[in-house]
Amino acid sequence: MHPGVRQAVDGTFTLRTVPSAGARHALETYLPVNRVEDVPPGLYRYLALEHRLAEESRDPGIKRRVAAGCLNQPHILANAVTFLWTAVPDRMTWRYGERGYRYLHLDAGHVCQNLYLAASGVGCGVCAIAAFDDAAMNRLLGIDGERQFPIYAATVGKKP
Ligand SMILES: Cc1cc2nc3c(=O)[nH]c(=O)nc-3n(C[C@H](O)[C@H](O)[C@H](O)COP(=O)(O)O)c2cc1C
Repeated sequence: MHPGVRQAVDGTFTLRTVPSAGARHALETYLPVNRVEDVPPGLYRYLALEHRLAEESRDPGIKRRVAAGCLNQPHILANAVTFLWTAVPDRMTWRYGERGYRYLHLDAGHVCQNLYLAASGVGCGVCAIAAFDDAAMNRLLGIDGERQFPIYAATVGKKP
């Protein structure tokens, strides 16, 4: 699988696998891991520039907390991993003002669609998720819901 960052330009912005308005890339990726070979269950964050995972916690109950935060959608308990995307609006709005909030949501759609494509290439299925409780997700991720807020999510699992 390709690393997320294809090129860092002048140390000021990055070109990635996914497009982003003005190459702002204002989204972060958190990964509550449930059943993934060689990765213990827990909460991880994807460090795009380093193309590696940072461990946030080894909470084996993470899938139940994520499922509860997503209105108890049962596929979250059964999947391999959930992708939780947050937005850091300052990275977009310093350049585009309020219109930046629109771009954050468009960017999130591109990111999730790319997950659908990448997953199908390795025999996995994806289900996008936008039904979640913002406050529960903020607590789970330790974010304030304003300077960083949950924007989109998706479950991933092997196809039978
Ligand atoms: C913006 C968006 C939000 C969605 N949120 C959820 C969700 O919270 N839970 C869920 O099970 N599916 C969710 N879905 C998946 C849709 O229900 C699904 O794509 C649709 O039923 C069509 O099924 P298909 O993708 O298998 O063709 C979402 C899809 C999109 C695009």
